[in-house]
Amino acid sequence: MAIGIDDQAYLGKGYGTEAIRLVLGYAFSHGLHRVSLRVLSSNSRAIACYRKCGFAEEGREREAAFVGGAWQDDIIMGLLDREFDPL
Ligand SMILES: CC(C)(COP(=O)(O)OP(=O)(O)OC[C@H]1O[C@@H](n2cnc3c(N)ncnc32)[C@H](O)[C@@H]1OP(=O)(O)O)[C@@H](O)C(=O)NCCC(=O)NCCS
Repeated sequence: MAIGIDDQAYLGKGYGTEAIRLVLGYAFSHGLHRVSLRVLSSNSRAIACYRKCGFAEEGREREAAFVGGAWQDDIIMGLLDREFDPL
C-alpha cells in the first residue's frame, strides 16, 4: 500500500488514517490476507498514522534510500486480516 496527501494544508488532520482504514476495510472484506508498506524511518507522522491503523513494524532495510543527500533506513510494516480493527 502507498498513500500521499498532496496538499500540506491537509496533513495531520486525520484524513490519512480515515482513508487507510477505508482501504483496509475494503481489502480485507474482499479476501486479502495481509497488507504491507514501506516508509522512511524519518517519516514520524506517517509511521504514527500507520501504527494507529494497526500496522506493526516487521523489518528495516538499512540505508536503503538516498534522500536529501543522506542515506535513510526504510521501515517495512504489515497488517494481517485478523489484526484489523474497523472500529
Ligand atoms: C502519511 C500521511 C498519508 C498520513 O496522513 P495524515 O492525515 O497526515 O495523518 P493523520 O492525521 O491521520 O495521523 C497522523 C498522526 O501522526 C501524528 N503526527 C503528526 N505530525 C507528527 C510528527 N511530526 N511526528 C510524529 N507524529 C506526528 C498525529 O498527531 C497523528 O496521530 P494522533 O491522531 O494519534 O494524534 C500524510 O501525512 C501524507 O500524505 N504525508 C506526505 C506524504 C507521505 O509521507 N506519504 C507516506 C509515504 S510512506
